[in-house]
Amino acid sequence: MADRTVGLVGLGVMGANLARNIESRGHEVCVYNRTTETMRRFLREHAEGHRFRGMETLEELAAALPSPRAIILMVNAGPPVDAVIDALLPFLSPGDILVDGGNSNYQDTEARCARLSGKGIEYLGMGVSGGEEGALRGPSLMPGGSRQAYDHLEPVLRSIAAEADTGPCVAYVGPGGAGHFIKMVHNGIEYADMQLIAEAYDMLRRGYGLEPQRLAEVFSEWNSGELESYLIEITADILRTEDDQGREGLLLDYILDEAGQKGTGRWTTKASMDFAVPTPTITAAVDARALSSPKELRTHAFNLLPYRDEIEFGSHETTSQVREALYASKICSYAQGFALIAKASEEMNWGIDLAETARIWKSGCIIRARFLDDVSAAYRIEPKTPNLALTDRFVGEIASRIDSWTEVVVAAMRAGIPVPAMAASLTYLNSLRTRRLPANLIQAQRDYFGAHTYKRIDREGDFHTQWY
Ligand code: 6PG
Repeated sequence: MADRTVGLVGLGVMGANLARNIESRGHEVCVYNRTTETMRRFLREHAEGHRFRGMETLEELAAALPSPRAIILMVNAGPPVDAVIDALLPFLSPGDILVDGGNSNYQDTEARCARLSGKGIEYLGMGVSGGEEGALRGPSLMPGGSRQAYDHLEPVLRSIAAEADTGPCVAYVGPGGAGHFIKMVHNGIEYADMQLIAEAYDMLRRGYGLEPQRLAEVFSEWNSGELESYLIEITADILRTEDDQGREGLLLDYILDEAGQKGTGRWTTKASMDFAVPTPTITAAVDARALSSPKELRTHAFNLLPYRDEIEFGSHETTSQVREALYASKICSYAQGFALIAKASEEMNWGIDLAETARIWKSGCIIRARFLDDVSAAYRIEPKTPNLALTDRFVGEIASRIDSWTEVVVAAMRAGIPVPAMAASLTYLNSLRTRRLPANLIQAQRDYFGAHTYKRIDREGDFHTQWY
């Protein structure tokens, strides 16, 4: 592959690591940072023997790049992206390429694509997953926007992406904000995966009284089966890590139980509302983080309505039931995320390939997992399926786990252990497989108080009744 010269703006940890990754694949990288000292430090630490060139101004950066220029922006999502674009524009020419590799909101990317195509700039909004390590060694890349820009940069992107057994984890996702949209859903699914794992851990530890050492073994065992994934693997590691501040026991036990969030999970939930595609497991995971945060309020509630903190359910074979509940819940959460992508793609005319989406998540990203091979295969065989959980590939997997799954959720409810994501997945599935939901009563109520009309099951048309 012919080497290229690319520009990179923003030398935070992700930007610096991505620059090093690109250079390590044989390309020259011209780096710029708003604070020049950061750029100089980067050069001091990494330039020796490598093809980096430091730029002190954006004008200098533009002058250093061959035509068409290709510049990757690794700055914080939101106004900083527009600020850099506006500052760069006077030095760019039609045909030049800008790539936003941050966690931008897909609607911002849509707007930027439209605005910049009017100026002849080819714009790519590219989801980048895998954290710092992924950026350096091979992330999963989700580029969307200008096809021309993608085709031009494809050799570079393929060279820096994670390599899975199914090929490099990058593909053109679709026009406009398609790339950032699937990155957002990736993060929503990431929230759900993490919450489901946390619930399984809580059930096993508080509910079934497993000691951390045994828990670590359980997660390691799980990591060699259907649940094999990065997040299960790191959970096993976390369950083996002793405190690093000199206290006795697990570090995990000293970590404050208030979960943070930067917002991409919340965006997925908002999008699910906008596109009217339910994602209850993802939403439950977002809510669970928010619920964890008012620790003081939770302590107050505990004092008012005390609950057993140590719960023993008894000793029947439990870990495999929890594993089954976790796996079935996971299938439902992916079904929701992919249904959201499918609907958005249809409404926005993005033409997103769901099998390819699962394929490029196979390696490099935070939700990487063996399971994604099955998701990809399911969508290759049934690309138009309305629901992943109902495909031939997965319906049997769900059916054989319903009993264990239900038992685990019921046991959790009885014990007062919150399992919002597992319960949301189970309720999602139960709603799907209920032949007659009480939505008829909702329709009757709507018609009663608002003359909203209803449809009947035995004849065509819209009906209104004078109820009183
Ligand atoms: C990734 C991650 C990455 C980051 C998110 C989640 O794919 O590499 O998703 O983008 O971890 O920002 O962050 P929060 O949990 O803080 O929302």
